[in-house]
Amino acid sequence: MKVTNAEIVISAVSKKQYPGDQLPEIALAGRSNVGKSSFINKLINRKNLARTSSKPGKTQTLNFYKINDLFYFVDVPGYGYAKVSKKERVKWGRMMEEYFQNRKTLKAVILVTDIRHEPTRDDVQMYDFVKYFELPVIVIATKLDKIPKGKRQAYLKRARETLQLEAEDALLPFSAETGEGKDEAWALLKTYL
Ligand code: GTP
Ligand code: MG
Repeated sequence: MKVTNAEIVISAVSKKQYPGDQLPEIALAGRSNVGKSSFINKLINRKNLARTSSKPGKTQTLNFYKINDLFYFVDVPGYGYAKVSKKERVKWGRMMEEYFQNRKTLKAVILVTDIRHEPTRDDVQMYDFVKYFELPVIVIATKLDKIPKGKRQAYLKRARETLQLEAEDALLPFSAETGEGKDEAWALLKTYL
């Protein structure tokens, strides 16, 4: 897709702040610091529209990015960062549930994992959580540039097995560094828009 317009519309903490224009949405979920915001930036060819950071926990709100007046990418706060208080975790859980539970315009969820590592227990939980709401999942195994080519297939197989992906759920290798996997990601996303 040729992105000619991309803008942040709102950083929301609750339902009443979500955009009301009924455009379809694709949400990004994944561990803190895994590369969710970088994925968005790479797809839309913008360096830092979705704010990224080498420190985990940069994204704390539901950030709605409107793309070509056609759909939203929703950048969701990451999970699994150890230095988060119990209170923060509870707040995060409530925010996720409120969003995933009754957002009619949410068409699919991208679960971003790090191709170098076996998906964590939190990743498995997140996958199950999304499936519980009967939403399609696209798993993006990112940071592909950090592994040798010879290991790709084995790491992808491991991710599919650990997450126990259903046959209809796609798993795509990706790198925000090199742009590998970008065209495939767009092709898949278009089927949900
Ligand atoms: P939170 O908002 O904290 O949950 O993080 P996030 O998932 O949005 O991660 P973000 O996009 O901010 O990226 C975290 C770090 O990983 C940054 O230093 C990025 O430059 C780096 N990074 C992201 N994707 C890639 C990739 O494909 N390859 C490499 N080498 N680095 C990446
Ligand atoms: Mg982020």
